[in-house]
Amino acid sequence: MDPRASVLTQRLADAGQSHLLQFWNELSPEEQADLTIDLQGMDFQEISGFFKNAMETSSSSKQEKMDARMGPVPREVLGSVTRDRDSLKDWELAGLDCISQSKVAALLLAGGQGTRLGVSYPKGMYDVGLPSHKTLFQIQAERILKLQQLAEQKHKIKCCIPWYIMTSGRTMESTKDFFSRHNHFGLDKNNIIFFQQGMLPAMDYNGKIILENKGKLSMAPDGNGGLYRALGNQHIMDDMERRGIEFIHVYCVDNILVKVADPAFVGFCVQKGADCGAKVVEKTNPTEAVGVVCKVDGHYQVVEYSEITLATAEKRSADGRLMFNAGNVANHFFSFSFLKDVVQKYEPKLQHHVAQKKIPFVNTQGQLIKPDKPNGIKMEKFVFDIFQFAKTFVVYEVLREDEFSPLKNADSQDAKDTPTTARHALMSLHHRWVLNAGGHFIDENGRRVPAIPSLKDGTDLPIKCEISPLVSYGGEGLEELVKGREFHPTLMIDESGVHELVKNGV
Ligand code: UTP
Repeated sequence: MDPRASVLTQRLADAGQSHLLQFWNELSPEEQADLTIDLQGMDFQEISGFFKNAMETSSSSKQEKMDARMGPVPREVLGSVTRDRDSLKDWELAGLDCISQSKVAALLLAGGQGTRLGVSYPKGMYDVGLPSHKTLFQIQAERILKLQQLAEQKHKIKCCIPWYIMTSGRTMESTKDFFSRHNHFGLDKNNIIFFQQGMLPAMDYNGKIILENKGKLSMAPDGNGGLYRALGNQHIMDDMERRGIEFIHVYCVDNILVKVADPAFVGFCVQKGADCGAKVVEKTNPTEAVGVVCKVDGHYQVVEYSEITLATAEKRSADGRLMFNAGNVANHFFSFSFLKDVVQKYEPKLQHHVAQKKIPFVNTQGQLIKPDKPNGIKMEKFVFDIFQFAKTFVVYEVLREDEFSPLKNADSQDAKDTPTTARHALMSLHHRWVLNAGGHFIDENGRRVPAIPSLKDGTDLPIKCEISPLVSYGGEGLEELVKGREFHPTLMIDESGVHELVKNGV
């Protein structure tokens, strides 16, 4: 046996993980070398500490529901795009002002594995089938470009929104390669900063690390809350400081409607003097499986639907809305100083959550088993675990149909949050933008299509309409292109003009 391996053998024995070498003699020299490298890079003591704490927290939190300790978000910390319409323009201007001074960065959480969607490449590279076939990464990049342009036009000053992209060991290379093959979608590559979150091994219920094959540990990213550790150990906070970043917008890769670095959200948070803000959508159905932002023992946090009783989920306020209606969409604002405190002081205090999973493993005979019920856990931190540390926390409520349509699952008959629902959500938003800007759609017989498509004839499909983010970030600037005009779908508006694809036989 390799001498390095014998030192390892002792370390593994001390950590109760000797089984990881059980197939050593069957491995090729390359496989042995790879396994040695993986094992040498592991801090078994730390991992076993994570495991113990996570299991303890998860079993104690299962015992009691949160209900008695919960309070709703008070109106004074809430900004709403529907209930505070008069302030919207002000917030947007305040946000654009910060952007124009290059104080705002976007931070993308793209380290997930996208298991439910089931593709082998990073989710941001997914094409949901829009007329343009743009990927999620391209849509986001173009929104950043447009927003820079809007801020520059307004303030007559050159600015930039640095884009920090968190990947994982599994997605880093393919993500970077994709960006470079696409010329960074027109953005300056010096302002796109990739960094990598940590990975943790999957464990069985006794804390034994699971082997995914004879020479490989089963590893998974440490959750989107792995962000905070990665920001520190990859020196990203230093990079932000050097650039003079004061405000950071953090969001998920899979929301096709995401308003990257949303100036109204940023402006609202800045005007409120917030160090931390959460964008939410209204939860209207008590049984919807979404976590809600609320206060627990006086501190803000996200409470998952499984942590409360139905009676609490059904409680309503005097205005008739659900009392706990602030649906969390993992879309956040942080001040730089708060984020720095989180990275330096609070991150180690965060516990991992336990996710019970069906984890493929090799059994002692060396056969690969795909279990049909959960056989172990993955440990994850969540990006919103740090709300509790905020001194001034605010909540910003937006319309789901305008801002939230996540891509989680592959298309199938009853699936939610699929490529089809994401594509429809975007086209439906753009359809409304055209109508609001004074444009109309007509069918093949030249008749105006009603603004709200009728379900009677089975045409519950949205009008096919796509507007490039390079033309409009949030519906602005379309009047001169569409007002008083009639269009046959498919309508595409991009930098080269207004196109009717079907009419022209494209
Ligand atoms: P999800 O929790 O929906 O996970 O991530 P996922 O990886 O996209 O999909 P499944 O659960 O494997 O099917 C929400 C957001 O958090 C990011 C994802 O990339 C997505 O933007 N994320 C998740 C990370 O950045 N790191 C992680 O470890 C997990």
